[in-house]
Amino acid sequence: MIRLTDQEFLDVVEYFRKNYGINLKNKKILIECRMAKELERCKVSNFGDYLKLLKKDSGGDIAGGMVNRLTTNYTYFLREPAHFTLLEEQIFSELLEKKRYGPLYIWCAGCATGEECYTLAMCMDEYQEKNGCTLNARIIATDISEEVLEKAEKGVYPKREIEDIPPSWQEKYCREIKKNSFCVAEELKYNIRFMKHNLMEPLKETGRFDVIFCRNVMIYFDKFSRQRLVSMLEENLNPGGYLFIGHAELLARDETNLEQVHQAVYRKRETI
Ligand SMILES: C[S@@+](CC[C@H](N)C(=O)[O-])C[C@H]1O[C@@H](n2cnc3c(N)ncnc32)[C@H](O)[C@@H]1O
Repeated sequence: MIRLTDQEFLDVVEYFRKNYGINLKNKKILIECRMAKELERCKVSNFGDYLKLLKKDSGGDIAGGMVNRLTTNYTYFLREPAHFTLLEEQIFSELLEKKRYGPLYIWCAGCATGEECYTLAMCMDEYQEKNGCTLNARIIATDISEEVLEKAEKGVYPKREIEDIPPSWQEKYCREIKKNSFCVAEELKYNIRFMKHNLMEPLKETGRFDVIFCRNVMIYFDKFSRQRLVSMLEENLNPGGYLFIGHAELLARDETNLEQVHQAVYRKRETI
């Protein structure tokens, strides 16, 4: 394993904090372990040379490789299921009525390998079938890691992940493709657009959203970046729209004007 000097470690931490909001302060060993292959790919034998390459990296290849290695992309189908129940039992109906059947705009921010936005698509399909209506929803799913976005777009997953999906959904939305993998039904992909986007920057060319999922992302951020992220998400919500964060995350009162309506669910007030 190639070791980081104290200064190199500080440089990597600062680079990640400044550019992506991610806090790697206590992650020295993790950086050394995960970056070993990346240094090899870039044909350098120490972090000093790697950081020099990063400084000259106009095409984004070096930074992209580092993001692929150092982001935590853990996710699974139907994670924190209470959120999907709430959508199906309450929020979809409320938004449908309010929007008078106009398109529903959903942003899945920090979508990782796509399980979250496909769960959303399954949940919407279920709702439509049960209620005999159409949500006419458009989902934008974003992440900074190109590697995970590629996997998300393919929608192919190892067989063991299918266990997180209820059997009736497996039957409708999953197709076995090889002995050890399955793919999600093509129909689920129709209304999802995958995009590379850094949450430390504004999201361009989209309007406001009715629902934003940004779950288990800010948990990796430093305090300042988290505040910046929360106010950007708030700005991107329609009045009456909902923000879902991870169950282990909590917005401090001084961080937001959103009102908390359920565990890890916030609503933008109609009046602001
Ligand atoms: C732990 S995963 C969460 C996935 C999913 N939302 C869930 O709850 O299961 C966090 C994701 O956030 C992404 N991420 C971290 N910082 C980001 C940033 N600045 N901009 C966009 N995505 C970011 C990571 O690449 C990673 O895929």
